[in-house]
Amino acid sequence: MTRQTLIAGNWKMHGLTGALGFFSEIAPVAAQSPATVLVCPPSTLVHQAARACEGTAIRIGGQDCHAARSGAHTGDVSADMLRDAGASHVIVGHSERRADHGESDADVRAKADAALAAGLVPVICVGETRAEREAGREVEVVARQLAASLPQNQTGVDLVIAYEPVWAIGTGLTASINDVARMHAALRERLPDPLTTCILYGGSVKPDNASDLLGLADVDGALVGGASLNATDFAAIIKAASLKSELVR
Ligand code: PGA
Repeated sequence: MTRQTLIAGNWKMHGLTGALGFFSEIAPVAAQSPATVLVCPPSTLVHQAARACEGTAIRIGGQDCHAARSGAHTGDVSADMLRDAGASHVIVGHSERRADHGESDADVRAKADAALAAGLVPVICVGETRAEREAGREVEVVARQLAASLPQNQTGVDLVIAYEPVWAIGTGLTASINDVARMHAALRERLPDPLTTCILYGGSVKPDNASDLLGLADVDGALVGGASLNATDFAAIIKAASLKSELVR
C-alpha cells in the first residue's frame, strides 16, 4: 500500500503579488517529484497563484475557510470561493487559527465538512502545547482533537491530517524522531482510513531535518511554514520527499 506523499507550504500572512515568481522557481522541481506539491498562499493570492501554476504540478490551497457556504460573515472566505479561485485543498484548524480566533474542534470539523462539500481536500491540523507535552498528555490531547475535528462517520474521504506540535511551530524546535514516530502511529490507528490517509508532520521542517522526518514510515509528508517562503529551501524539502517516494515504491 503506497500513500500519497504531500509537501505543503503554508505562507501564513506573508506574500504580495511580487512573490508569485516563486512558482516558476518551484515548478521544475515539482515536475520532477513523485510527491504532490501544494502551496497555500494568503487568500488574496489564491486566484493569481492558481493561474500562475496552470500547467504545472503545483497545487494551490487556502489557509482557512468559513463553515458556511455563503452569508453575512464580513471578512470571511468560503470553501466554494477558494475552489472557485482555483484551490484544491484548504488547511483547517491550524493552531494559529485555534489560538488567534478561538476555533474549537467543533468549528474545525464544520470547516472540514464545508471543504469536502465544496470539493476541496481539507488538511486538518492537530497538535499539543508545550505544557500538555510536559505533562505527558500529548497523545491523549491530540487523539481527542482528532476525534472531534474529523468529519463524522465517513470513510473513503479524501482528507489529510497534519500533526503540528504547537511548541515546534516557528521556533526552530522539532519533536524528536521517536516522538514523531510514536504520535503518527497513534494518529494512524485512530483514523477511519488508516492505510490510505496521508499524515503530515509540521513544525520547523527545514532542508536539514526533512530527510529524517520524511524517512519515518508513518510520516507521509510535511506542512512547511517558514521554509516555504524561500524557493531554495522549499525545493530542497521537495527533493527530500522524492527520496521517500522512491523508498516506498
Ligand atoms: P513552521 O510552521 O514551519 O514555520 O514552523 C509550520 C506551520 O505552522 O504550518
